[in-house]
Amino acid sequence: MSSTYGGFPAARPRRLRTTAAMRRMVAEHRPRPSGLILPAFVREGITEPVPVSSMPGVVQHTRDTLRKAAAEAAEAGVGGIMLFGVPEHKDAVGSQGTDPEGILQVALRDVRAEVGDELVVMSDLCLDEYTDHGHCGVLDARGRVDNDATLERYAEMARVQADAGAHVLGPSGMMDGQVGHVRRALDEAGHQDVSLFAYTAKYASAFYGPFREAVGSSLKGDRNTYQQDPANFRESLRELALDLAEGADMVMVKPGLPYLDVLREFTREVDVPVGVYQISGEYAMVEAAAEKGWIERERAVLETLTSFTRAGASLILTYWATQAAGWLRRG
Ligand code: PBG
Repeated sequence: MSSTYGGFPAARPRRLRTTAAMRRMVAEHRPRPSGLILPAFVREGITEPVPVSSMPGVVQHTRDTLRKAAAEAAEAGVGGIMLFGVPEHKDAVGSQGTDPEGILQVALRDVRAEVGDELVVMSDLCLDEYTDHGHCGVLDARGRVDNDATLERYAEMARVQADAGAHVLGPSGMMDGQVGHVRRALDEAGHQDVSLFAYTAKYASAFYGPFREAVGSSLKGDRNTYQQDPANFRESLRELALDLAEGADMVMVKPGLPYLDVLREFTREVDVPVGVYQISGEYAMVEAAAEKGWIERERAVLETLTSFTRAGASLILTYWATQAAGWLRRG
């Protein structure tokens, strides 16, 4: 190698890669276990956990196994848990989502009883798990998702989830005005301390496929009238400005790897914590390839989490949260 800098010997970046200790010392980014959030499904009316076939290693929990999973996550140093309810009965307006005895509300109380304040307990605030048509909102007479009627349902969901003990609610339905509407409902109900982790830039993605199995979704059609078009970048900045103006405490980009550009931009723009959701299809891809022996599972997972961290995410929702926390603590 003969190139020089103005007569001086050439810089050799490889000097800082010579030993494992050197590489560890100069490493710029490393995911924090406490920044990981475990998404978890709890299903009503089952006595054994039900495996989600498209997400090897992920189950629909019973109330009991969910408590155990929450305790294990806390033990591993994971920062939070995000709960999704899978009700036995679905209907047009998603009644189980606002019933204080609905599965999600019951599970929130269970998990709070188990972990107290050791883990940040969050719940997904959306109707798709509860509606028989599978949409994230209620429908109008012509079968379209009715934005403002849905906001009223979200306000009610927010109240029952907060009453059940959620520390954080995640409005994820992509209705216009959902963050402000839910914030006002919480404040009026005396839940000023419950924070909002807004699913701010949420794209209509093919990678949600396995999640549909996980929540037993009956959706026919798509979510293209409310979730964002993957072609759009600047639209995310508009969603970001609105969510912040409406009172979002934390903001999220979803999915993860296909939208790192959006994530990077969010972390440059704002002073609130920015999270990313590594979704079901991202999980499934790595698991499937690893099962075939085509990639190394642990390395691949840690590389994805590191890339989110490098892009500036301080919070990462990942189905590998508990396992990854163990790997990260081991060093
Ligand atoms: C809405 C919601 C979805 C996911 C999280 N919250 C489904 C959707 O928007 O279609 C997907 C998460 C995943 O795919 O892992 N309740």
